[in-house]
Amino acid sequence: MIKHGRETLVKMTDAGKYVVKEPLPGRGIAQKREWLTRQHVAADTIQQLSNIGNDAYGVPCVKSIDDANFRVIEERVDGVPLSPLLFRRMDSITRGRIIDALAAFYADMHTINPIPNRIEYKMDYELDVGALTDFVDTDMKKIFPAGDIKFMEKTIDRVSDKSYETRLVWSHGDLFEENVLYDFKTKKFNVIDFTEVGTAFLHYDMMTAYPYDLGIVDELRRRYIARRGAKNLPADFTDDARWARIKKFHDAAVALQNMNSYVYDLENADNVARKKLVAHIRQQIQKLKQYEK
Ligand SMILES: Nc1ncnc2c1ncn2[C@@H]1O[C@H](COP(=O)(O)OP(=O)(O)O)[C@@H](O)[C@H]1O
Ligand SMILES: [Mg+2]
Repeated sequence: MIKHGRETLVKMTDAGKYVVKEPLPGRGIAQKREWLTRQHVAADTIQQLSNIGNDAYGVPCVKSIDDANFRVIEERVDGVPLSPLLFRRMDSITRGRIIDALAAFYADMHTINPIPNRIEYKMDYELDVGALTDFVDTDMKKIFPAGDIKFMEKTIDRVSDKSYETRLVWSHGDLFEENVLYDFKTKKFNVIDFTEVGTAFLHYDMMTAYPYDLGIVDELRRRYIARRGAKNLPADFTDDARWARIKKFHDAAVALQNMNSYVYDLENADNVARKKLVAHIRQQIQKLKQYEK
């Protein structure tokens, strides 16, 4: 069986204990070297996690890296991609176990490579809403009432101006359903594909992307703090009220980001598509007004 992601070709057999990874065909030498470098960083991270030996979650050990032939051999992991839909259909005990596995995974990642300094995170790091800002300044007037335009101007400014104290952590960098394989037989939560591993902001890592899509950010944080202890974490993370406030900023940022892509799509939309997009935009404005409360 052959699988692939965005940049890796993976050969495996059902019975085989290992998978063989290579760069996707057609890549130039510079890209292949870069791929190899990241496979080494990935293998180091996996090795350190295995040294901890936490059986709350699984990671595939790398058996060998053949630098000359750009070939990685690693353990085969069983399981199906853990999508938000699949997760929501699980019983609460299984879900709890998975949140615990994820909390353990985060805690271990942050322990193997601790980055001690605290850092100010500015919301505009993640906001990429150029199309939306243009829209608010120009065409929005043709479709929406003046009140909505004022509200949007204010909201974009307000959200991008926010900042809070967090810290840098060692992060998987590509945690989403394709790289999380849940094995129903062994009930094991497996994480694969560590090629994007690097530093990230603690809040951002937990509040966005995968945990956000699973709808587990609060529970994940609670279990993470239980594992790590509050002592070394910034108050903007451990204090419930501050955490809730920051979560609102991130929720608002997600709504703004969604609006930005709808606005972007408006440009090439026919009349039917336009109607839908405008309705979506209206929905996001309603959401943003909710967060204001
Ligand atoms: N160790 C493994 N065991 C089982 N399946 C794997 C393993 N590694 C990768 N795969 C499968 O191959 C796909 C692509 O591999 P991945 O390492 O994620 O490549 P990419 O970096 O291109 O995303 C994965 O989504 C998964 O389905
Ligand atoms: Mg992948």
